[in-house]
Amino acid sequence: MSGAVTVALAGRPYEVRIGRGLIDDAGRQVKPLLKRPFTAVVMDRTVADLHGERLLGALRGEGIAAHAVVVPPGEETKSFAGLAGLCDDLLALELDRSDHIVAFGGGVVGDLAGFAAAIFKRGIDFVQIPTTLLAQVDSSVGGKTAIDTARGKNLIGAFHQPRLVLADLGVLDTLPDREMVCGYAEVLKYGLLGDAEFFAGLEAATSRVLGRGDDALAWAVRRCVEMKAGIVAEDEREGGRRALLNLGHTFGHAVEAATGFGEALKHGEAVGLGCAMAFRFSVLLGLCAGQDATRAERAIAAAGLPTRLAEVPGHPFGADALIASMAQDKKAQAGALTFVLVRAIGDAFVAKGVDPAPLRDFLIDEGALP
Ligand code: NAD
Ligand code: GLY
Repeated sequence: MSGAVTVALAGRPYEVRIGRGLIDDAGRQVKPLLKRPFTAVVMDRTVADLHGERLLGALRGEGIAAHAVVVPPGEETKSFAGLAGLCDDLLALELDRSDHIVAFGGGVVGDLAGFAAAIFKRGIDFVQIPTTLLAQVDSSVGGKTAIDTARGKNLIGAFHQPRLVLADLGVLDTLPDREMVCGYAEVLKYGLLGDAEFFAGLEAATSRVLGRGDDALAWAVRRCVEMKAGIVAEDEREGGRRALLNLGHTFGHAVEAATGFGEALKHGEAVGLGCAMAFRFSVLLGLCAGQDATRAERAIAAAGLPTRLAEVPGHPFGADALIASMAQDKKAQAGALTFVLVRAIGDAFVAKGVDPAPLRDFLIDEGALP
């Protein structure tokens, strides 16, 4: 194991264990949490086919009756219909309130199964075993769980912390390169928002992390988890500092919405683009030096992520439509726009009540339609 990070929530601390081969040891690690040797493992079809038997075998090897609940892969599963189907499967298995469920997959399965755990019989415990880089560095840690609706992503959900997170770096060997790059956008985000030294390390290590080089990957995942654990322990419900984790998300989310949340622009790609835009917007507002924006953009592009609107299929988008999307953002309060902006690499802050006029000019300058 490469180590463990504790999310030090008062009364509910939990560990994020990081290392290769953790899945094979999952039975031993999960068993002490269980009141009876019984669990449901929620996974999507892709993860089930690639790694399901190994995890189920490891749990069963410790005498745990582990039942597979397989859902279709893809964001569509994070829906009311997907949630209803999952809850029905869990009810059919006769899980009781003292049982745990295991969320084994990317952010989709983690968010869906985590939300099901939050509401199933008024709430049961769960374990996250994240299988994408994005899920390992971000979504499996911190207790945000949610489903999407036709009106937007992640609009229905709950804060529900897992009891344990097992981030097995080995499962990333089967992750498609494009998904690896998407997760890396979130990795860069951590350096850009709060750790200039980490960012400098990433500038030198991009190809090793993306190539799943053991030491580089473990170092990057661990640093992200440490940062996230620190922020979540301080501000679990996003009353303040946790909003920094949304660097790049307001711009990114608006462009993602304009492309229909499909394959044209994946979430991580939107985050990469959004981070580059947040830096350039900060420069325009006189908050940040141009050279920092250039450096951020170079690192994002080096990972194979988009940094300009013109790179996104469907470009050009209307500036007003993008701004309307930003006003729907969960961070927006009473219609006022909230952004995470930067003073420098590693120094992000939350800016409330951002004036739409310079924003509109900025978007047009970036290539959006007036
Ligand atoms: P995902 O769960 O859809 O996984 C991406 C694809 O990779 C899927 O097709 C999946 O089947 C496949 N896959 C997963 N693990 C694999 C593996 N080891 N090998 C091969 N294929 C594998 O997407 P994601 O990028 O992990 O997560 C995106 C979701 O996470 C979004 O719904 C987003 O809203 C959510 N999210 C939540 C938080 C949070 O704090 N809760 C944070 C960021 C993102
Ligand atoms: N992914 C943002 C958060 O967990 O707060």
